[in-house]
Order: sequence, then C-alpha cells, then structure tokens
Amino acid sequence: MTAASPPRDLIVFGATSFVGQILVRRLVERFGVHGKLEWAAAARSATKLEELRRSLGPNAAQLPLLIADVADEGSLRKLCAQARVVVSTVGPYALYGEPLLKVCAGTGTDYCDLTGEVQWIRRMIQRYEVAARNSGARIVHSCGFDSIPSDLGVHFLQREAIRRFGQPCPNVKMRVKALRGGASGGTVASVINVVKEVAADPKLRRELADPYSICPEGYAPKVRQPSVGSAGYDADFEAWVAPFIMSAINTRIVQRSNALSGQAYGADFRYDEATLTGRGLKGRMTAMGIAAGLAGFMVAGAIGPARRALERFVLPVPGSGPSPEAQRKGFYDLRFLGRIADGRSIMAKVTGDRDPGYGSTAKILAEAAACLAQDIAKRDKPGGFWTPATLFGDRLIERLEAHAGLTFDVIDG
Ligand SMILES: NC(=O)c1ccc[n+]([C@@H]2O[C@H](COP(=O)([O-])OP(=O)(O)OC[C@H]3O[C@@H](n4cnc5c(N)ncnc54)[C@H](OP(=O)(O)O)[C@@H]3O)[C@@H](O)[C@H]2O)c1
Repeated sequence: MTAASPPRDLIVFGATSFVGQILVRRLVERFGVHGKLEWAAAARSATKLEELRRSLGPNAAQLPLLIADVADEGSLRKLCAQARVVVSTVGPYALYGEPLLKVCAGTGTDYCDLTGEVQWIRRMIQRYEVAARNSGARIVHSCGFDSIPSDLGVHFLQREAIRRFGQPCPNVKMRVKALRGGASGGTVASVINVVKEVAADPKLRRELADPYSICPEGYAPKVRQPSVGSAGYDADFEAWVAPFIMSAINTRIVQRSNALSGQAYGADFRYDEATLTGRGLKGRMTAMGIAAGLAGFMVAGAIGPARRALERFVLPVPGSGPSPEAQRKGFYDLRFLGRIADGRSIMAKVTGDRDPGYGSTAKILAEAAACLAQDIAKRDKPGGFWTPATLFGDRLIERLEAHAGLTFDVIDG
C-alpha cells in the first residue's frame, strides 16, 4: 500500500438494504473480517448497522461500520477516501444513486452496483464518463443476476464459438429454461419507478426501446435486433416462449459489451432473451399468461391509482423480499444458442444454485466487487464505464464457478 492509497479494499454502501444484508453475510462467510479482503459496511443508520453486525455473530464483531447518507456529499467523500472500491445497494438508483456515483467518478474510486435501470445508466454515462476516465474510476453497473449471467454467458459462448468455428456467432439467443425466485420491495420500487418515469416522459420510451441506448455516442449498427415482446413459438428450442422481464436490461448490457470490445461478437451481432414455457397447448397458454401478466403490470404501474393499489396491497414493500428458505430453494438454468452463417450452432448452459435476485445475486456481487478490488489492475483496465464482460471477463467466470455456485458449460457436441 502506498502512502496515498485508501486503507480498505471495499466498502458496502447500503449494507442495511434487503440485498445489502445478504451481501454482507456472504462477505463475512467468504472473506471474514480483517482477512484477505479488507472491507467495511456502510449505511445511513447507525442503529440499523449495529443491529445487522450483532445478527452476524461473533465472527463479525470487529466489522468496521461507517455512516453515510446520499443527501450528504461530505459523508460520501469520506467513504470514497477510505476504500478503493465502493459497492452500492442503495436503490432505486434513479432516485438515490447519482450522488455517490458522481463522487466516485470525481475521486477515482472504483464502483459497482446492482442497477437494472437503463435510463439511469444512460444518464450517468453522459454525465460522468469524462470524469471517470480522467480520475481512473472504473464504473461497472448491473453486477447481479441482471446482468452478469447474460453478459458473461454470451462472452463464454462466443469464446467457445471462436474455438470451434474460428469466428463468433452473429446470432445468439438466451432462453430461460428454468428459474425459481421472488422479488424484493427494492426491486419492485425500481421497476415501478422506471414505469413512472416513462409515463411522464414519452422521449424516454423511445430511448428504452433503442437496443443500443447505453452504447457509446454515435454507435448505431444497421442491424435490426430481435425482441420477444409477446407469446410465440421458437422453432430452435421446439417450445413456446414468453417475454423475459430482465431482457430490457440484459440485452442493453450485452450490446454495450460488444460495442466496447470493438465488436468482438461481430458488426452484425443479434441478441435476444425470452422464457421457455414448454410444448403444446400448455406451453402456449403459459406463454400467453406470462405475456398478459407482464403487460397488465406495466399498464397498472403507469396509472397512478392502480400503481398505488399495487404498492399497498400486492407487492413487497422496500426492505422485504424472499425468505432465507426461498433463497436457498431457488435456482436458474439459462441456455444460450449461437448460430453462424452456414447454419452450424453451439449451445451453452449457465446455472446458479440460489434464487436469482438475492441468494445468487449476493454471491455474484461479492465476487464481482472482490474481482474489481483484487484482480483488475488500473494499468490494464483504465477509468470509464465498463460492463461485467469487458471489465472482468474470464477472471470473473473462474471466481463465480469456484465460489458463487454458477456453472458455465458447452452442452452440445
Ligand atoms: N441486479 C439485480 O439482480 C438486483 C437484485 C436485487 C436487487 N437489485 C436492486 O438493488 C437495489 C436494492 O434492493 P433492495 O431490495 O435491497 O432495496 P431496499 O431493501 O428497499 O433498500 C434500499 C436501501 O437504500 C437505503 N437508502 C435510502 N435512502 C438513503 C439515503 N438517503 N442514504 C443512504 N441510504 C439510503 C435504505 O437505507 P435504510 O436501510 O436505512 O432504510 C435501504 O438500505 C434496488 O435498486 C434493486 O432493484 C438488483
């Protein structure tokens, strides 16, 4: 450590959030306290933080606690002075995320988060990319279930395609084969906030519909991107498919990875995501049910009284989410099908061993944050807004397989 370097590797900001608590528990389990990874937990409430530390048991008794509030820039500056990486779970990010990101970009502090809010990512890139490049801050959004399995799944598939075919696949589909999990109040609040912003600003709807909306300015390949917006039949998988809600963020991150890597997946790269619902009438009815449910949720979310009724009576409130048992029993199985121009194809499978949004997300985020703090040198990857695949690549796949319960495999031939 040089005289100028901050004393810690990592600070978790938002440690008392629903997902932050699971992350902190995971970090204690994986790295201990004052171990190989020097880290601290931060939030706005000292009482809640102390309660959290007590609940973690004797192994966490020495865990350093720090107080910071997004409304107090000085407190965020103090956080950034104390760590090389800050990981934030304070969301909805479009409401609370900007002050910390601004300070990180200005001070050269590396940053990662769990946002799936495309409109906010776009705004942050526009406002702080220059500052991050100048200061050396590496900013990497969407380091949870959205969008790491998708982003690294495509990276992995293309690596194997190049090995097998000598070229990447211009056409890739991700299909959710199986998934069990629930949503937290914070995630629901983030989705509802996007729907609210779109209802208030029609320009935003166009921005969100643009598959390249978070790619660098001026990047606009003349390729029509596919999108599964309703129930349909997928002949490649011989099954019915329904829209997958996370495709709205995942496809944007994957396209940004292609743009940042100098089109490593090709200039004509096409990518979409959907949920497999099975064969026959049952598969078709399930696909139609999911599509109708999603459309109904979006419409209700945009209408004030319906939205308030949903928030009050139906959806989980901020701070709540799936039980520890539901997290343990959750899992996912994603399939990636890549095809090259002569018709040859390759299939990869990515699986996770806990519920996607929390149990698995916390393990993924812990490894991504540790990877940023310990594995990726600034001289190799300088400041700016990265994606998981372009910043972490194979190194994070190794960590996720070794420590986060994920698998990455080619499953044909
Ligand atoms: N990408 C993924 O796969 C994924 C998965 C899970 C969650 N997420 C996202 O992660 C975020 C957190 O979700 P969650 O369910 O954990 O949310 P949550 O429980 O509602 O937590 C929100 C947190 O923000 C904190 N906060 C609010 N205002 C603050 C302020 N002024 N200063 C400091 N902290 C403040 C709250 O502090 P208090 O504790 O003091 O109230 C709380 O800890 C959401 O945006 C969600 O969409 C993403």
